Amino acid sequence: MPISELQISRIRNLQAPSFSPASRINIISGQNGSGKTSILEAIHFLSTTRSFRSNELRHLVTQGESSALVFSRVESSTHPLPLGVERTLEGDVRVRFDGRSLDSAELASLLPVQVLYSGTFELLDGSPSVRRQFVDWGGFHADPAFITLWRGFKRALKQRNSLLKYGKIDRFQMQVWDREFVSYGEQLTRHRQAYIARLLPEFKAILAVLLGDVDVDLKFYPGWDSKRDLTAVLADQFVRESAQGFTLSGPQRADLRFRCDGVNAADRLSRGQKKLVVSALRLAQGQVFRQKADRPCIYLIDDLPSELDEPHARLFCQFLEQSQDQCFITCVDPDTLTEFWSPDTDLALFHLDAGRLLSR
Ligand SMILES: Nc1ncnc2c1ncn2[C@@H]1O[C@H](COP(=O)(O)OP(=O)(O)OP(=O)(O)O)[C@@H](O)[C@H]1O
Ligand SMILES: [Mg+2]
Repeated sequence: MPISELQISRIRNLQAPSFSPASRINIISGQNGSGKTSILEAIHFLSTTRSFRSNELRHLVTQGESSALVFSRVESSTHPLPLGVERTLEGDVRVRFDGRSLDSAELASLLPVQVLYSGTFELLDGSPSVRRQFVDWGGFHADPAFITLWRGFKRALKQRNSLLKYGKIDRFQMQVWDREFVSYGEQLTRHRQAYIARLLPEFKAILAVLLGDVDVDLKFYPGWDSKRDLTAVLADQFVRESAQGFTLSGPQRADLRFRCDGVNAADRLSRGQKKLVVSALRLAQGQVFRQKADRPCIYLIDDLPSELDEPHARLFCQFLEQSQDQCFITCVDPDTLTEFWSPDTDLALFHLDAGRLLSR
């Protein structure tokens, strides 16, 4: 559901911008430090109650203020509906949509966002948890059952780890949590595998256009030797787990592996190539989402031109244009990206000057 109105209050240096985004392409330009990434952070906050730049809310909230608030209207099949998200430094979170409160899963499903920013490379060279989040974003949006499996698995893992950590292992209790761990863990893994199987051809097709001659292979690793039964793996590793105090193998160790020319892709690709690979992954993820949910997502793309030469930036914009998603794209120079769109695209240009937003 595209956002048709945004009012941002008490986020970083932003001077309470209030604006009506275009339903398709929004380009926000401005000098360094003008607040471009902060606008994208505010939209991410609206859809997840969190920043993508910092885990700590106090960094997002304007210095000297005690809460951040983003109010919006999102399009529905009939008319725009109000959505507001507020978080205080004391820890209160308020999410109101069309007169009722939403929990975090309902909010995430209402406004699915894809982010590309400087930390995006972590998808290739960061910790496995970043890649698990990527896979689980897809799983979550592909099937309503996914969140129940994910929560059930997390609970079993937490209980197992706590028994292992404190050393007083009640065998009966352990068997109960082992059964939950295996049952939820195997189902969760099947969903993750099915999602990657769905994503892979889309990713390859987009990558072939964006990166032409470079072939990147993507494989899902479930977190244990998948030829073996998870129950048998738990039994085998129990003595080592008791000594180390936590669960060793299992879906909590799942990962994606990217290879290029037979080596780890992160060690082979240039920065621009990495950006294109990660962009292809995010574009593919949006495409799979649209096919399933029959509605667009919101793309937040920070500094699109950085690392990319003009032909690649143009190709990337063409994918965004074809996608039907609502895009918020930032860049320093107001003139760089304006030429890349067909004349009938719903396009809005904004310029930021020291936290103040001006339409162009
Ligand atoms: N909590 C805060 N309160 C007030 N101002 C802040 C806060 N956090 C950051 N700032 C300031 O907000 C400004 C906006 O930062 P932002 O990263 O959004 O700029 P940008 O336009 O994306 O810059 P760049 O082109 O360098 O990426 C910076 O000048 C920064 O110093
Ligand atoms: Mg920035």
